[in-house]
Amino acid sequence: MVSELKPRQAVLKMTPYSPPTGGRAGKLRLDFNENTVGCSPTVIEFLRERLSADGLSIYPEYDETRPELAAYFGVAPDQLLLTNGTDEAIQVLINTYVDDGDEVLLPRPSYAMYRFYSEVAGAAIREIDYRAEDLSFPLDEFLAAIGPRTRATLIANPNNPTGTAIGLDAIEKILAAAPHAAVLIDEAYFEFYGVTALGLMARYPNLFVSRTFSKVFGMAAMRMGCLFGQAENVAFLHKAQSPYSVNQLAALAARAAIRDTQYVRDYVGEALAARDMLCQGLERLSIPFFPSQGNFVLFRAGGRAIEIRDKLRAMGVLVRDRSYEIAGSVRVTAGTREQAARFLKALEEIW
Ligand SMILES: Cc1ncc(COP(=O)(O)O)c(C=O)c1O
Repeated sequence: MVSELKPRQAVLKMTPYSPPTGGRAGKLRLDFNENTVGCSPTVIEFLRERLSADGLSIYPEYDETRPELAAYFGVAPDQLLLTNGTDEAIQVLINTYVDDGDEVLLPRPSYAMYRFYSEVAGAAIREIDYRAEDLSFPLDEFLAAIGPRTRATLIANPNNPTGTAIGLDAIEKILAAAPHAAVLIDEAYFEFYGVTALGLMARYPNLFVSRTFSKVFGMAAMRMGCLFGQAENVAFLHKAQSPYSVNQLAALAARAAIRDTQYVRDYVGEALAARDMLCQGLERLSIPFFPSQGNFVLFRAGGRAIEIRDKLRAMGVLVRDRSYEIAGSVRVTAGTREQAARFLKALEEIW
């Protein structure tokens, strides 16, 4: 029987996004910018203690998690929305502020989910390229592109995959130029950079900031994130969010994760040292790379990007080919120094 069921035009037009998600176990995973050693042991302990049949039978409750996370991030509880990863934060933001046909302004290349959820919503997407020579943020072009039709703009700071970042002065210029648009500053890699826009929230009602537990906290499997904004805005975001989208284990795990601040400090220190090693190693091999503010480095492998990725995979080391958005580029995650050494040794063998 021929189906008469047709998806929406917006969905029909989308190019499928399918990151390589299978077969990663047992390999050195330097391909997704995750924490490469796993979360703090106190998270596992806390989950073991709290896991019970009774607990699992109840719909999630966030009464303890919300104030504890708000205190950790230095905001009021009503300025915080708990989300199922940053991905849901992006989705809720778009669903709250962007109608079919509205304009969303995005820097390119950046995190794929900005475009994904904008496309699902049927938004008119306008993209501004990062500067080709150094992959710096195209501030002037971006400001010039903001118009009365712009309803949202989503910026990763630092950006993935470029590793480049902007300062608060640039963010303020964007906020001031787009008072009618929701401006998301996605701080998934904040801990490796140290600059946050959270302090600007009181002055800019159009500012939203997101954080994730998928990177430094080592909890990507949990799907836990936070979206911050002024209280009146967060009330609207709440209206557009499913009431139980964050599962109870994720809500518990986040509470344990923020208590182990030493773990976060140690991991950041290790990843930054590994990032330095990666840069020095690439330099030694005369491989051009882009200085990064995140826990990853983008380097140029020329016409060999896919070959390099595949050869490394065969040696048990996973990296991401990004040549589909920046010609000849490959991204490698900075985990520990020992992992960086292993990657560099493998790269040296095949370069
Ligand atoms: C800029 C950026 N934001 C968000 C995420 C993912 O966040 P989450 O796992 O919280 O959905 C990533 C992951 O690669 C990212 O690069």
